Amino acid sequence: MSDFAQWARQVQERMETALALALPPASIAPTRLHEAMRYVTLGGGKRVRPMLAFAAGEAVGADQTPLTAAACAVELIHVYSLTHDDLPCMDDDQLRRGKPTCHVEYDEATAMLVGDALQSHAFEILSQPGLFPDPASQVEMLHVLAQASGSRGMCGGQAVDLASTGRQLDLAELEFMHIHKTGALIRAATLMGGLSGGPLTSEARASLEHYAKCIGLAFQVMDDVLDAEADTATLGKTAGKDAAQGKATYLSLMSHKEARDYARGLLDDALSSLRPLGDASRRLADIARFIVERSY
Ligand code: IPE
Ligand code: IPE
Ligand code: MG
Ligand code: MG
Ligand code: MG
Repeated sequence: MSDFAQWARQVQERMETALALALPPASIAPTRLHEAMRYVTLGGGKRVRPMLAFAAGEAVGADQTPLTAAACAVELIHVYSLTHDDLPCMDDDQLRRGKPTCHVEYDEATAMLVGDALQSHAFEILSQPGLFPDPASQVEMLHVLAQASGSRGMCGGQAVDLASTGRQLDLAELEFMHIHKTGALIRAATLMGGLSGGPLTSEARASLEHYAKCIGLAFQVMDDVLDAEADTATLGKTAGKDAAQGKATYLSLMSHKEARDYARGLLDDALSSLRPLGDASRRLADIARFIVERSY
């Protein structure tokens, strides 16, 4: 196993433990809601956003305890976004992370409440008094995550996605949609990892910002490519859904090769923006390569 694969496995294991502890036990009322929150959150997912938080935090010397909390918060927002994304009123998906989606396993109302409750829970974790070394940076993290989740972030991108289904978008419109629906949380994860250690220097912030913008977009370009190229068992979600539903994706504007080349160009750009951070940003570079070269 490569050094990066080992590190990624460690992050995944740490997240499994931390999320299991952070979520209310299924034995506590309302038990069905708590059970469903645990069902969607635990036991799956690549945990790319937590990896980004840990890697950015490690690049600036942040401690593991605040980093773990920041990573949990952004992963919970992500899981909420997936749960709602799969609802019949959105992408109407049956499979997520290799299991039946929340509304299939439970019911639609529960899936809606699971998303709502996970979102609140993320902010409950992140706002815990005394958890971060610098209260001003903690407030900034709350601001970053709130903005990334809302209408100027993920929700806004999802709105454009739904409005564009069955329509052809131009490159600028597609980029707007992808940067919002996926890039916003990727940026938040990266900045929150950095801020877990306290205020960022303007140089470190600029590096992280540019890196995150490039890989956030590359992430969704590759998600579009994999939807068309990979199989359902590998993805853990139904393959080929974008074309079947008439979704606007990079493949509606360019060939598979052009889309992969585009993602590789973004990877190069992301890697060069890490240079000022030196060897401490090694893991961020590894994650960027993983995002573009992944098969699932
Ligand atoms: C899928 O995200 C949804 C997008 C934002 C493209 P991931 O590919 O990170 O999903 P998990 O967390 O590994 O399941
Ligand atoms: C999802 O984009 C983005 C969010 C969940 C915010 P997709 O709809 O392409 O994600 P998948 O392919 O269902 O994971
Ligand atoms: Mg969607
Ligand atoms: Mg979807
Ligand atoms: Mg997709």
